[in-house]
Amino acid sequence: MKILVTGGAGYIGSHTCVELLNAGHEIVVVDNLSNSCEKSLDEVKKITGKEFPFYKCDILDYEGLTKVFDENEVEAVIHFAGLKAVGESVEKPLEYYHNNMTGTFNLVKVMKEHNVFNIVFSSSATVYGSPKTVPIKEDFPLSTTNPYGSTKLMLERVLSDVYVSDNRFSVVLLRYFNPIGAHKSGNIGEDPKGIPNNLLPYVAQVAVGRLPKINVFGDCYPTKDGTGVRDYIHVVDLALGHLKAVEKRSNVPGVHIYNLGTGQGYSVLEIVKAFSEACGKDLPYEIVPPRAGDVAICYADASKAKEELGWEAQRGIAEMCADAWNWQSKNPNGFEN
Ligand code: NAD
Ligand code: WQD
Repeated sequence: MKILVTGGAGYIGSHTCVELLNAGHEIVVVDNLSNSCEKSLDEVKKITGKEFPFYKCDILDYEGLTKVFDENEVEAVIHFAGLKAVGESVEKPLEYYHNNMTGTFNLVKVMKEHNVFNIVFSSSATVYGSPKTVPIKEDFPLSTTNPYGSTKLMLERVLSDVYVSDNRFSVVLLRYFNPIGAHKSGNIGEDPKGIPNNLLPYVAQVAVGRLPKINVFGDCYPTKDGTGVRDYIHVVDLALGHLKAVEKRSNVPGVHIYNLGTGQGYSVLEIVKAFSEACGKDLPYEIVPPRAGDVAICYADASKAKEELGWEAQRGIAEMCADAWNWQSKNPNGFEN
């Protein structure tokens, strides 16, 4: 299949490009490089030994996107492009709504004009808000607590309405839990700009000496050790989930919704311990007040993806931390090396 990957230079996008190419698909990548660099795509080419076209193009640019579709016989789109920092979205809501929403409207418009009806969309467990129980199933109530999350929830509704309006569409909504880890080569990985917001890149930067200590956000949650519990999933497992989704659901009209998680919850302190074991050193940490808006426990019921896509996460927490450490220690300054 020929698959357009928007946001393909980013963290999850670059890993998905590898798995799509390894599975024999052709890809075309669109990215404006606002939160990534082209080097990640050079590495994807080296890892896979395959070439593909890259367009430095903003999905807000209608003419630019039209050119991409005119020049390539795209059959399906995997749509990662978007801004993703929760805190920043609270400070810059208009930027987030414009980029994520208008960009997606533009993309779907150009898809329709080129008779492309298959889209896999990056949604997030953030659409479950503060779940009343765990594990979280796809039919749980939806709500959001910040503009970033609202863009995901609104885009889920928009894309569902697009299907209702035109039954040729296959819309796959993939709700990711907490992606971490890196490709085994250690040549692509997560490379956040500035101080990381998410736990794993923060821990990795402490381990490599870029940051002095880990701040553990609260230890009074009703969890096994008082710290927040999340469903961390290896980014390669996540990438393979996209491969299954695009292969099994393209040309199957409808709205298909799947959680992509492992179904296992780990606390912040368990992650610090697992990462210490992976990097072979004790990591300094301090308990600080909880972060506003954080939920205590969040993990997936991922059985629907197993039953309908034949997909299940394979990689455990030790491998996730080892691969994240391999990437971070080989590239202490990320792609800037
Ligand atoms: P990322 O920032 O590494 O990748 C997103 C890519 O999109 C970047 O390369 C960026 O340059 C590009 N981009 C942003 N706006 C664009 C635009 N207007 N036009 C073209 N390109 C644009 O993020 P990621 O972690 O790889 O996330 C990929 C997707 O998955 C995002 O939509 C994100 O919201 C979603 N998601 C991520 C997580 C997570 O924890 N990483 C969890 C759930 C969902
Ligand atoms: C994980 C745990 C923190 C940093 C976010 C988004 C979500 C999704 C994934 C995109 C929590 C604790 C964190 C730190 C800490 N992204 N923590 N010290 O909050 O589960 O989810 O990323 O869709 O929408 O909200 O991930 O990695 O930030 O936090 O103690 O320096 O680690 O409190 O318990 P989160 P995270």
